[in-house]
Amino acid sequence: MAGRVGVLDLVCLVLAAATRSACDDFGPLVTATQGEAWPKPQLQVEHEGFVGVLPSKFSFNVTKRTCGILQEALGRYSEEMHSHWTSCCSARGGDVSLEEGQLLLLSSLEVQLMSPCEERPYLGMDEHYELRINSPGSEKAALLTSQSIWGILRGLETFSQLLHADRNLNLLRANSTAIMDFPRFTHRGLLLDTSRHFLPTATIRTVLDGMEMNKMNVFHWHIVDSQSFPYQSEAFPNLSKKGAYNSAKLVYSQQDVRNITEYARLRGIRVVPEFDTPVEGGCTTSTGGAGHASSWGRGQPGLLTPCHLGAGDLPDGTYGPVNPVLESTYSFMAALLREAAGVFGDRFLHLGGDEVTFECWESNPDVTDFMSEHGIGNSTQLEQYYMSRLLNITSGLNVSAVVWQDVFDNGVSLPRDTIVHVWNGIPYEELAQPALQVTAAGHQALLSSCWYLDSLEPGGSWSQFYDCEPTDFSGTEDQKALVMGGEACMWGEMVDESNVVSRVWPYSSLAAEKLWSSADADTEDGAARRLEEHYCRMKRRGVGAQPPNGPGYCL
Ligand SMILES: *[C@@H]1O[C@H](CO)[C@@H](O)[C@H](O)[C@H]1NC(C)=O
Ligand SMILES: *[C@@H]1O[C@H](CO)[C@@H](O)[C@H](O)[C@H]1NC(C)=O
Ligand SMILES: *[C@@H]1O[C@H](CO)[C@@H](O)[C@H](O)[C@H]1NC(C)=O
Ligand SMILES: *[C@@H]1O[C@H](CO)[C@@H](O)[C@H](O)[C@H]1NC(C)=O
Ligand SMILES: *[C@@H]1O[C@H](CO)[C@@H](O)[C@H](O)[C@H]1NC(C)=O
Ligand SMILES: *[C@@H]1O[C@H](CO)[C@@H](O)[C@H](O)[C@H]1NC(C)=O
Ligand SMILES: *[C@@H]1O[C@H](CO)[C@@H](O)[C@H](O)[C@H]1NC(C)=O
Repeated sequence: MAGRVGVLDLVCLVLAAATRSACDDFGPLVTATQGEAWPKPQLQVEHEGFVGVLPSKFSFNVTKRTCGILQEALGRYSEEMHSHWTSCCSARGGDVSLEEGQLLLLSSLEVQLMSPCEERPYLGMDEHYELRINSPGSEKAALLTSQSIWGILRGLETFSQLLHADRNLNLLRANSTAIMDFPRFTHRGLLLDTSRHFLPTATIRTVLDGMEMNKMNVFHWHIVDSQSFPYQSEAFPNLSKKGAYNSAKLVYSQQDVRNITEYARLRGIRVVPEFDTPVEGGCTTSTGGAGHASSWGRGQPGLLTPCHLGAGDLPDGTYGPVNPVLESTYSFMAALLREAAGVFGDRFLHLGGDEVTFECWESNPDVTDFMSEHGIGNSTQLEQYYMSRLLNITSGLNVSAVVWQDVFDNGVSLPRDTIVHVWNGIPYEELAQPALQVTAAGHQALLSSCWYLDSLEPGGSWSQFYDCEPTDFSGTEDQKALVMGGEACMWGEMVDESNVVSRVWPYSSLAAEKLWSSADADTEDGAARRLEEHYCRMKRRGVGAQPPNGPGYCL
């Protein structure tokens, strides 16, 4: 056989390009990179050579400013470095004694935070950083510098990712390199839904760990919905007492929320809560009684619209969306949103507004009377009335409002500064249309259409997530500049604490890279190799990501 190239071998050679050939099943389908960052830095120059790191002989050297966020981060990354080294190398006999001059051992990373720390992450915060390791242009062996604590956090993450195990030398190593990095979009989010299934705070923290590793900066907490109301309101305790799946165990206390927002803050992640009204769906015509009403209605009698869809003119025991004709609705919403703005502490509130149906409103004579009295001609205009009352509340709270695209699609005219969250446009080719219309109306847009995690088949290909380009619509440059970023969405119908982490990771990483890196940062094959490494990295750090590429292994 040797020396002869048979027909089968030729077929194999042709097939061997990046994917498994039918002829050779041995080994992983995709070979992981070693020490490459995810998401890919905007600019990275490779230099000759590499450095070794022994955690016991390494320290971070903060030479400019510091603060609690930085100290906490250095603690995390030191611990990470030790556990990485322990898992790769220490079993082989501890610190090797290297011969003098054989290898440059990096004894510290100098960390230069040039400006005072900011307290909280916010939209548009500065996340630039520069990182040099054994770079000829620099007199420091390793230097991380940024104007902002948020940039320092991103740079520490990159530094940790460049370190990879060298099992021969029995240490961690990183190639000599210079990186200049910053995000392409300011809003890089992930939605978790804790209404369809409750998620323990420990699970949410694990997802936040993954977000930090992917430089994502907004946790969109779809905390309540029709199915359950786990948020424990101080002003309205009955909402969770009666609207949670279980009012003792399956709830988020204000302390829990503060724990999550603090955990996120320390990682440069904002927490934007969503209180989705006037509540999706609407009433059903079957006489299911209160069981068919949304969780909102159980603890707040009078909030939802009684439907009159049965025979005759009487309420039939079912309830539709929030009742827009009662003043009590607005005083309730104002108090709830004020509380939420305080507890979650972000400058944004997501008001939802998706999938409203008008059937119930139109069946209720109190509603229709109100409409004729106020010259409200149709239900779209009624929705407009409701939303503008809500937006008035949020502007009184000095927070920016985000709404789902449905509100815009229904023809509700929104103040210019309302941010529209585009989710429709599945299948993916149609993404362009809503983004075009929303930005043509002058709104800032967030895109999620192509990053619905529950629309990916388990074990399916991720290329559709990586193909998605947020500015790929036919608008002007000004319109494209209105795209603030996007979010991967993990709706909760089919996930709970047993599988949510592996559904979210590493697939959300693809959205994270699209939102951080330059548009043409990598090819799909290149991304596959880095993703293979990144998934192992996440697993090693306790974020149970699922294999993205098929057969393979993590050491
Ligand atoms: C590190 O350098 C080696 C040798 O130059 C190279 O083969 C490898 O691809 C580099 N790794 C990274 C992550 O750049
Ligand atoms: C920290 O950096 C400063 C400035 O480069 C240097 O003088 C000092 O020796 C460093 N300390 C350590 C522990 O590396
Ligand atoms: C909560 O519901 C109970 C009835 O279960 C009621 O007695 C109480 O007044 C309600 N509390 C508030 C603040 O509405
Ligand atoms: C949140 O709670 C967890 C578990 O009790 C704890 O380990 C963690 O330190 C808390 N984090 C913050 C930021 O309060
Ligand atoms: C509702 O009324 C407005 C104003 O008259 C009109 O522009 C709009 O087309 C109507 N919408 C529907 C769905 O009938
Ligand atoms: C908007 O809210 C202010 C109080 O913040 C109130 O005085 C005003 O009447 C509201 N406007 C509308 C149209 O509801
Ligand atoms: C409103 O929020 C902005 C930041 O979003 C802040 O600069 C401004 O001071 C706030 N105004 C009030 C009255 O709180």
